[in-house]
Amino acid sequence: MERKDFIEQVGLSGAAILIFGCMQGCSKSDGTTTNNNGNNNNATVDFTIDISKSPYDALKNIGGFYVEPITNVIVVKTTASEIIAVSAICTHQQASITYQANNNRFYCAAHGSVFSTTGAVTTGPATAALKKYQTTLTGTVLRVFA
Ligand code: FES
Repeated sequence: MERKDFIEQVGLSGAAILIFGCMQGCSKSDGTTTNNNGNNNNATVDFTIDISKSPYDALKNIGGFYVEPITNVIVVKTTASEIIAVSAICTHQQASITYQANNNRFYCAAHGSVFSTTGAVTTGPATAALKKYQTTLTGTVLRVFA
């Protein structure tokens, strides 16, 4: 085999392996998608946390919040008797939002969108509300669900 033929064959084989490997790694058999943070956007939201235990114990204090990493839900204790939960992913371009206790609102630093505690847009560029989830507190166990 000539050197040129060898290099061509190895090159073609290597390219085929790379393409096959990419196809395997770039698709998912369950049809779900991932966001920029690598977390599952289509995960079913239904989880419980014990707010007496770290890191959830931030929810014992008004203004305290916790972001659940699997579902990207931000849970916030807004008043002495209310804990709310909304999607932590901005509806504009999917950056992460944070809770601002001093203004009792959600804020996206990427482009400045602001959302109320109901998830409604109060300042754009986002135009769609954050998805809000239901919460129930039984003792110290908080359930968050759709
Ligand atoms: S991604 Fe949030 S305002 Fe643009």
